[in-house]
Amino acid sequence: MKILAIHGSPRTIQSTTRILANYVLEGAAEAGAGTEMIDLCDFRITPCTACDACTLNGICVNDDDVPALVERMKEADGIIFASPVYIDNVSGQMKIFFDRLADAIHYQLLAGKYGCSVATTHTSGGDEVVAYQNHVLNYLGVVSVGGISVATGGDSMAIDAREAEARALGKKLAGAIADGFSDKKQEEEITGNREFFKDLVVENKDFRTDEYKRWVKRGWI
Ligand SMILES: Cc1cc2nc3c(=O)[nH]c(=O)nc-3n(C[C@H](O)[C@H](O)[C@H](O)COP(=O)(O)O)c2cc1C
Repeated sequence: MKILAIHGSPRTIQSTTRILANYVLEGAAEAGAGTEMIDLCDFRITPCTACDACTLNGICVNDDDVPALVERMKEADGIIFASPVYIDNVSGQMKIFFDRLADAIHYQLLAGKYGCSVATTHTSGGDEVVAYQNHVLNYLGVVSVGGISVATGGDSMAIDAREAEARALGKKLAGAIADGFSDKKQEEEITGNREFFKDLVVENKDFRTDEYKRWVKRGWI
């Protein structure tokens, strides 16, 4: 079992979000998962230019690290999104990465996995950013088992005070991967999204034949 945390603070190892996400990973590791943390800042991630090339052939016009990151997400059983709150949203680094996941969303490349979300903030917006990141997981076809946000008030010790809760979240994620986890509301949303993306997959079946066949095989078409 492999769980991958994708972390979007530019403060890398000094980041409080990273410390919190690491507690989640440690909880998952205690439950038997292999874990890995990706600092988005270490990678070349170019903003989406909305050229639509990926929809047709799955290949982005930008030559950067995103395809390799998507491959690592595909190899994982569980995905954790972790971001600080920047002006009531995820960090710019995380948002640019999310925009580049459009193809993974349209073709549901990560469907069937489980995930959760992590956020830290000075004062406000933590729960909203957790909810937003979980929403992105759902767009990807990933069911979230929950999330954790901490408002530090500038005191990094506030993260340690929530260590047990973060570890429990990691354990819950590992449990979902091992034994399954159901959430009717999320599953309905994911099914509805898939219905919506189906038209695109059918329309492009001559360009993305392998993806079309995968959708047919999974009974989505
Ligand atoms: C550009 C920027 C925008 C921020 N916006 C908010 C905000 O809207 N609300 C808030 O309470 N804190 C805000 N903060 C504070 C961070 O969310 C907070 O310090 C967070 O814990 C930093 O996480 P990190 O250590 O993982 O980078 C902002 C910080 C930066 C640098």
